[in-house]
Amino acid sequence: MTKRLELIASLIDEFDKVIDIGTDHAYLPIMLHQKNIKCLGTDIHQNALDSAYHNLLEYHLEKDIPLVLADGLKNLDVSNYNTLVIAGMGYNTIKHILEDKTKLKTINKIIVQSNNDYDKLRFFLNELDYTLKEEYIIKDKNHLYHIMKYLKGKEVLTKEEILFGKFNKDYLNYYEEYLLKLKKILKNIPNNHQEERKKIEEEISLLTKYLTNFSN
Ligand SMILES: C[S@@+](CC[C@H](N)C(=O)[O-])C[C@H]1O[C@@H](n2cnc3c(N)ncnc32)[C@H](O)[C@@H]1O
Repeated sequence: MTKRLELIASLIDEFDKVIDIGTDHAYLPIMLHQKNIKCLGTDIHQNALDSAYHNLLEYHLEKDIPLVLADGLKNLDVSNYNTLVIAGMGYNTIKHILEDKTKLKTINKIIVQSNNDYDKLRFFLNELDYTLKEEYIIKDKNHLYHIMKYLKGKEVLTKEEILFGKFNKDYLNYYEEYLLKLKKILKNIPNNHQEERKKIEEEISLLTKYLTNFSN
């Protein structure tokens, strides 16, 4: 099991009732079962569920962990669950899964790990009236992952918080490296690509401002 999934599992509480959307290999439901936490695994692809079932058989958990074929929350009865995990997917897929707000009535916790577009994701979840409680940036097998824990509730985020997450000095190195990367990107954008340059320049300026928090 990976460091990334272990961190996700650590954000789930004892009494949470969890749906792992896009469970694939079902590693997360298996990890949660070891902590006595109930988890339903779903996936849009039958071959993913076949591999999940194969793993459940190996752990003798085929009777304890239900698996359902579904596109996101469509045709799923969510009413007995309070927590969603959506991990290892791109932003557009995550947005598609969460788009139907009527399905989220009982969901007070969402753990999300997108492969891209963290700023769009923070904006989207903010609009859905979830509060960003914790965000972790971890390295696992040479990949950086952002893992976010949301609880139900409105909050107002600044533009910097949407772009970079909530200020956390543990991630100073990551943001310093990100700033250098943006500066390199800017150097390589030709002067006549004004729009593109402006977008990166604005991001550099906001990130520089954000980083001043670290030195205060
Ligand atoms: C890369 S795997 C991630 C597996 C696991 N969640 C993890 O983080 O290790 C992504 C999984 O999401 C599933 N998936 C993609 N779109 C989905 C959707 N709309 N509803 C449910 N599952 C979906 C894919 O079939 C695939 O098994």
